[in-house]
Amino acid sequence: MDAIILAGGYGTRLRPLTYTRPKPLLPVAGRPMIEWVLDRLPPEVSRVIVAVNWKAQALGAYLQNRPGKAARDRRTFIVVKEDEPLGTAGAVKNCEKFLTSDSFFVLNADIVSRMDLGAMLKAHRAARAVGTIALKEVPLADVVNFGVIQPGATTPAGTTTIQGFVEKPKDPALAPSRLINAGAYLLERRVRSLIPAGKMVSMEKEIFPQLIPQGFHGFGIDGPWIDVGDPKRLLDACHTLDAHFKAGPEFRLGDHATFTGSVAGKGCTVRASAHVEGCVLGDGVTVDTGVHLKDCVVGDGEFVRDSATAQRIWTKPVPAGYPASQVGNAL
Ligand code: GDD
Ligand code: MG
Repeated sequence: MDAIILAGGYGTRLRPLTYTRPKPLLPVAGRPMIEWVLDRLPPEVSRVIVAVNWKAQALGAYLQNRPGKAARDRRTFIVVKEDEPLGTAGAVKNCEKFLTSDSFFVLNADIVSRMDLGAMLKAHRAARAVGTIALKEVPLADVVNFGVIQPGATTPAGTTTIQGFVEKPKDPALAPSRLINAGAYLLERRVRSLIPAGKMVSMEKEIFPQLIPQGFHGFGIDGPWIDVGDPKRLLDACHTLDAHFKAGPEFRLGDHATFTGSVAGKGCTVRASAHVEGCVLGDGVTVDTGVHLKDCVVGDGEFVRDSATAQRIWTKPVPAGYPASQVGNAL
């Protein structure tokens, strides 16, 4: 069975970390984000098609050379690059020629969870659904960040029929429930023909609503679930997965320096009497002596000389091809 991993967003909410790396390779508690997604794949999945565009080469190189892991999980990886971002459904259409199974998974690459995709596959098959999405219940205030379903009846297969789908409601009051698209779904072959080729298409806005009359279901998932889409949620995910996690290898903390509620990549140094709080540091960052950083995101290789609060710290030019504003998922 095939799984498509949607890994082509620019990750603008995580800039400047995503200036130098594709979002799926940013570390979450010391492991590339995409590894947490691959962990969830059930044994039925033997082929993984990764739909990429920004920093495609880096992601391709990583997947070809996963140390010792690719051999162990015996899966085939196919990296499909889009010349231009095609949106979440356009990317699926672009992978069509590599799909071999009738049912296939589509997974967002930025979800850290313990969802049971094997159980979802069983329920999807038993319900004979055309599409089944993993559902997570979130607090009402959070629904505006996600796709929200209007639930119908519970089926004997353990799924819930979906009667409406609202992507990112403007106001919580406009959301039909607190059940959101958890960024993992199963689709049947015939859904592919609903997606026009070669253009930007949003799965959530343009395709999901068309599935409702055809048998569109949801499957509730338990346990921790975090969309690692912005710095706060990245910190949250790191600390949920490993309460003691602070930094990657070769981290140096100077005398009287503090590093609280923050995470750092490889080879970072926080010099004497510096204080770092609520920050995300990329690889090879140095925070100079006595500097206070609060709620900042610091790009790879930066040397931070001045104190700052709520800043994105990047002193080099923004790389060519990186968008000036948030692109999101073709919404
Ligand atoms: N290949 C490709 N091409 N991938 C893309 C593109 C594209 O043009 N645009 C976005 N993606 C990938 C992103 O890399 C990410 O893994 C996934 O698609 C979802 O995009 P996000 O930009 O992270 O969307 P979101 O978090 O705002 O919303 C989505 O996820 C929520 C759950 O976290 C939607 O699917 C919501 O309905 C959902 O609730
Ligand atoms: Mg996301």
